[in-house]
Amino acid sequence: MSSRLNLNRAGLLAVGLAATSSLVAAGPCDIYSSGGTPCIAAHSTTRALYSSYSGALYQVKRGSDNTTTNISPLSAGGVANAAAQDTFCARTTCLITIIYDQSGRGNHLKQAPPGGFNGPESNGYDNLAGAIGAPVTLNGQKAYGVFVSPGTGYSNNAASGTAVNDEPEGMYAVLDGTHYNGACCFDYGNAEVSSTDTGNGHMEAIYFGDNTVWGSGAGSGPWVMADLENGLFSGLSASNNAGDPSISYRFLTAIVKGTSNLWAIRGGNSASGSLSTYYSGARPNVSGYNPMSKEGAIILGIGGDNSNGAQGTFYEGVMTSGYPSDATENSVQANIVAAKYATTSLTSGSALTVGSSISLRATTSGYTTRYLAHTGTTVNTQVVTSSSATTLKQQASWTVRTGLANSGCYSFESVDTPGSYLRHNNFVLLLNANDSTKQFNEDATFCPQSGLNGQGLSIRSWNYPTRWFRHYTNLLYIASNGGVHTFDAATSFNDDVSWIVSTGFA
Ligand SMILES: *[C@@H]1O[C@H](CO)[C@@H](O)[C@H](O)[C@H]1NC(C)=O
Ligand SMILES: *[C@@H]1O[C@H](CO)[C@@H](O)[C@H](O)[C@H]1NC(C)=O
Ligand SMILES: *[C@@H]1O[C@H](CO)[C@@H](O)[C@H](O)[C@H]1NC(C)=O
Repeated sequence: MSSRLNLNRAGLLAVGLAATSSLVAAGPCDIYSSGGTPCIAAHSTTRALYSSYSGALYQVKRGSDNTTTNISPLSAGGVANAAAQDTFCARTTCLITIIYDQSGRGNHLKQAPPGGFNGPESNGYDNLAGAIGAPVTLNGQKAYGVFVSPGTGYSNNAASGTAVNDEPEGMYAVLDGTHYNGACCFDYGNAEVSSTDTGNGHMEAIYFGDNTVWGSGAGSGPWVMADLENGLFSGLSASNNAGDPSISYRFLTAIVKGTSNLWAIRGGNSASGSLSTYYSGARPNVSGYNPMSKEGAIILGIGGDNSNGAQGTFYEGVMTSGYPSDATENSVQANIVAAKYATTSLTSGSALTVGSSISLRATTSGYTTRYLAHTGTTVNTQVVTSSSATTLKQQASWTVRTGLANSGCYSFESVDTPGSYLRHNNFVLLLNANDSTKQFNEDATFCPQSGLNGQGLSIRSWNYPTRWFRHYTNLLYIASNGGVHTFDAATSFNDDVSWIVSTGFA
């Protein structure tokens, strides 16, 4: 019996069996396959990308005992079993250690090694993403994306079946169009096998962000561009393509594809509607891009030389063999829309009331009389009681505000210094005046979770989901569990990041 898969006009996959027949919604890779341009890599922490795929989507590692578990779809072709992650990671921290390739080629993405640039880990590797930074729902079922903070990166420098040199390929990714920056480079796609810059045309990857060092598009960004090495390109030339729009859909479909002296950038809203073509034409008219010298490694969240200053969120993406037709990609977009990506709560535990004043008491044994307070710009813990001076009571009281960078989280304004907020800088928590910049807003936004030690709340950074409010030597940091800084020490981590919330002293 033929094992060929046939797509009918409704976009459904008819699987012919001798006695029974069933209709299963085709996945993106079934669609690429029927278009003659099969996936050679398929990555997603949110869902299966083939209708028949029921294997592992990703692996997480928890901080409590360093053990790992695989997260799979709830059923073949389905959404990830996020509840399995929540159970495994309860009362501890979790990192995404592997994003599995669903294509069967073993092109898994793992912690990116040092290259032209070193990562922040002690061995020069990039950081791994926290497992809870990008919660979403697909058709109402919870799943988690990959929230890439600066310093985070994944790669596979020994991928099989990827395009090399001028061979044709396509790729798409579903991203968060509101999570980006201007640093180099939030990429997904084809890169150097050495994690170093080996010259023009040695990459072909989707880029998303508002970097303007090389090319740019219309408006002030962010843009979908192509990272072709030694340049982010929006079109024919190395500069501006006014046809490449600023685009910031909460769920964004981004496409790059390339073949012999032809390439394209396409994009659209992953939650509705169709794709638009922002560029389709000749290779950049700068030496080194025609023909291309693609090398066939796969990167996520970094540039080809491991430049790792960028941020973004990845939900799913694939790379193909062959140059997909626009029609095939349009069907994939319809499939993505039908997956119904939507936002969900970024917090857990008891809710905070915007506008209320709160105080936060440490729960670590020996420190339970201390409250999160400030002395000038320094944020610390101090012993505070009902008979403390009014000045100290005010220094230990915080007005809850809607998150400056994300309304699903919170910011904390000083009661005695209105207009100043808790924000982190170099992972140190500070009290700084609001300067209205995007960076300030992001550094001042925090997403509380149920306390990791079972008490109160643990308050994680929005833009660094692996990092939490922690007292260490009576000073405040945003700390990761077992990271490279002294204040990241694993010892007593859960206690040091758990805070009892009460009505503010003032
Ligand atoms: C987990 O591994 C790290 C680094 O390998 C180590 O520092 C830490 O102590 C381990 N934690 C546990 C709970 O075993
Ligand atoms: C490359 O293309 C751009 C845009 O059409 C054009 O302005 C520029 O002169 C071209 N450069 C070369 C070297 O052909
Ligand atoms: C931040 O400051 C700007 C002006 O400096 C002001 O317009 C804005 O309302 C302030 N935002 C908050 C949340 O305090």
